[in-house]
Amino acid sequence: MKAKVIILAAGEGKRMKSALAKPLQPVCGRPMIEWVTEAAAVLDTDPVLVVGHGREQLIDKYPSRTFAVQDPPKGTGHAVMMAEPWLEDDAIAVILAGDAPLIPGELLRQMTEDMAARGDAGALLVAELENPTGYGRILTDAAGHVTGIVEHKDATEEQRKIRLINTLCCCFRGDLLKNCLHRLTNHNAQGEYYLTDVVGMLVRDGYTVGYTLCPDSDAAMGVNDRVQLAGAEKAMRKRINTHWMLEGVTLIDPERVCIGPEVTLGKDTVVYPDNVLEGKTVIGSRCTLYPGSHLKDTRIGDDVSVRAAVTDGAVIGNRTVVGPFAYLRPGTVIGDECRIGDFVEVKKASLGDGTKLSHLTYVGDADVGKDVNIGCGVVFSNYDGTNKYHTSVGDGAFIGGNTNLVAPVTLGEGAYTAAGSTITEDVPPYALAIARARQVNKAGWVSKYTRKEH
Ligand code: UD1
Ligand code: CA
Repeated sequence: MKAKVIILAAGEGKRMKSALAKPLQPVCGRPMIEWVTEAAAVLDTDPVLVVGHGREQLIDKYPSRTFAVQDPPKGTGHAVMMAEPWLEDDAIAVILAGDAPLIPGELLRQMTEDMAARGDAGALLVAELENPTGYGRILTDAAGHVTGIVEHKDATEEQRKIRLINTLCCCFRGDLLKNCLHRLTNHNAQGEYYLTDVVGMLVRDGYTVGYTLCPDSDAAMGVNDRVQLAGAEKAMRKRINTHWMLEGVTLIDPERVCIGPEVTLGKDTVVYPDNVLEGKTVIGSRCTLYPGSHLKDTRIGDDVSVRAAVTDGAVIGNRTVVGPFAYLRPGTVIGDECRIGDFVEVKKASLGDGTKLSHLTYVGDADVGKDVNIGCGVVFSNYDGTNKYHTSVGDGAFIGGNTNLVAPVTLGEGAYTAAGSTITEDVPPYALAIARARQVNKAGWVSKYTRKEH
């Protein structure tokens, strides 16, 4: 059966105390609402997002999505009313919360299939919680059939003992939901139109409503404040990290590794604690990520080792060694078997296979060939305060320690520069460039200067 998904995201989110709209708060680096739309896509790739407070931020960020506006928010039932034009009599209406990022798409599919298989008018996704405080409770009759939902604030002491809770995620026959929406009232403790009242209404009308139990109570987690946001982050991180461990990646301490949802890692790669892998980062096989790196949108080949590096938009070849303390910025492309040592920064530059930058070097706006040795303290001076210029270094070149390469400049294949040179002119292939003042030794100068005999 066809399904139409409605995602409720119009609540004020006051308890977040944030300038960022609640649905955009990130969980493992991805806005909560994107986790929800990704799960929804199992049933409907064009869900309706009901938005209110902070809606400009959402509409700006997702211009091709379908929005319904609810302003001011008058409860979850009222929010669904705002999406009524999209409800179809012959489609299942699936309602999700924009602040519940951990519900997997497969569970949504199961909920709709359970409903269809039982011939029910609706199905609720429920969870059994140790501490159900704050959640709506599922009311059942002696035979275990759902009779309604009571909100925590409206519940009696006896009802508050019920540990079966409403996740808010639910589905209904479209025709019946529409009929019930028109009959909702706001006669309750919060003066809101409750979506949950639809359940009792259907049962009183003679229909049946069933439920699907979340196998893992983490999935039910709703995010209202930063403490719950941290809880959702932790649960999602555990889900992502468990996936990678089962795919053959060793995480020495999985609680201390943050892997974004779009990151991939190859088999037999080992990740030590305190690594953050973000964006579209791809790590090959048999790599070792020692503690303390932050890798974003970085592609790393096989058998690479990385120590305490910060990388963004870099590409790193096979068997290359990076760090400790390297900074690789966008446009960096490093070949195979390179060595990027300590306090090396590379930006918008390509380095051929076997090239070594072992210490204290800045390379920017450059093409560096294969098997080049760049000495300690070399600076590619690419900027004159107004414009950036390009440097080219041929294969097998040797750049002496503390050389400045003042761009634009080209060094031919096999060229050498003497340590401490400031190179402002091109160096032909296999030539040695010396660009520094010749040394003068002044005999006895120190004694005269300090008036002491030596
Ligand atoms: C709701 C459920 C409760 C359930 C809990 C699960 C109702 C009446 N109660 O309570 O049974 O246990 O979720 O977390 O449905 N929203 C709107 N417009 C509104 C109000 C809310 O779009 O007018 C959206 C919010 O942005 C949020 C979601 O609906 O994404 C849930 O709203 P919230 O106020 O947090 O509901 P709860 O009181 O937690
Ligand atoms: Ca909530």
